Amino acid sequence: MTKKKEKRILTGDRPTGKLHLGHYVGSLQNRVELQDKYDTFLIIADVQALTTNFDKPEKLSEDVRQVARDYLAAGIDPEKTTIFVQSLVPEIAELTVFYSMIVTVNQLRHNPTIKSEAEQYGYKEMSYGFLGYPVSQAADITFCQANLVPVGEDQIPHIEQTRKIVRKFNNMYGEVFPEPEALISDFPRLMGLDGKNKMSKSLNNAIYLSDSKDEVQQKIMQAKTDPARIHKDDPGHPEVCTVYHYHQAFNSEESDEIAEKCRAGTIGCVACKKRLAEKLNAFLAPMRERRKKYLENPELVDRILMEGTEKAREEAQKTMEKVREVMKIDYFKK
Ligand code: TRP
Repeated sequence: MTKKKEKRILTGDRPTGKLHLGHYVGSLQNRVELQDKYDTFLIIADVQALTTNFDKPEKLSEDVRQVARDYLAAGIDPEKTTIFVQSLVPEIAELTVFYSMIVTVNQLRHNPTIKSEAEQYGYKEMSYGFLGYPVSQAADITFCQANLVPVGEDQIPHIEQTRKIVRKFNNMYGEVFPEPEALISDFPRLMGLDGKNKMSKSLNNAIYLSDSKDEVQQKIMQAKTDPARIHKDDPGHPEVCTVYHYHQAFNSEESDEIAEKCRAGTIGCVACKKRLAEKLNAFLAPMRERRKKYLENPELVDRILMEGTEKAREEAQKTMEKVREVMKIDYFKK
């Protein structure tokens, strides 16, 4: 028998495309470890994806499955983690409406992540759904009574907003929810292949978990290195080189030696990149192996999502029963 895990985790992503090495280093790797210790719920937040992609809803069905395959390939185990789809748990939408009465528009307007995302998307005016997505995220976190929310720093304002809502709800109507805490990942952001920005799909500088061996090799061979190295035996500066940063992240046993040889000009960029590409491909090999099974049997992925969603709904229904009871809107309950 598996030991009952005491604390519950909820975390997740908006499905907007393929996940990359930056996602792996920043969150997936951590989730794979946490699933052994905690009862883990993983939300594929398709409704939240619509807050910015409302004009392309037809993309969602593939994006949801893509993210699910990336999770499974990365080692998320559906026996340990409940993977589910946000829009298929209508109780989340219901809870969002109740929460929306106890959040002020000003709190949302001042949320720094909302502000910077609105700027990033060039919104002069925000939709009600976009401005309010932190409220919906509070419902994501609390419908399953989560205690811990592993996230990156940009999500802290949303967790703070969730805690405010929970305190207010519990005070006003009765104790229904635990106050969730953020588990902040302190992994350094992985740089993109351009060596200038963090790895990101929109900047076209990413290595995807689903890239083939050849794609990885090609991307690494084209990556920017130390601009001061023109000839193979020029002394290099590994600290400014993206390829070296990847050696540190994915080839830590050799990275000191590589830095030394780079500084001495005794390893050229081409050789250094070849070694990295080999390492990365070895690192991605088990993921490719697992992904193959799911690509060949897409119905397996759908079944995992359906079962996970069913389990999430059961939790949601239990919670909503309590919510209606403390709010005294269970009119016909005997
Ligand atoms: N906002 C998160 C992101 O953009 C995704 C998300 C949706 C989430 N619901 C959540 C994260 C609940 C943690 C908990 O990455």
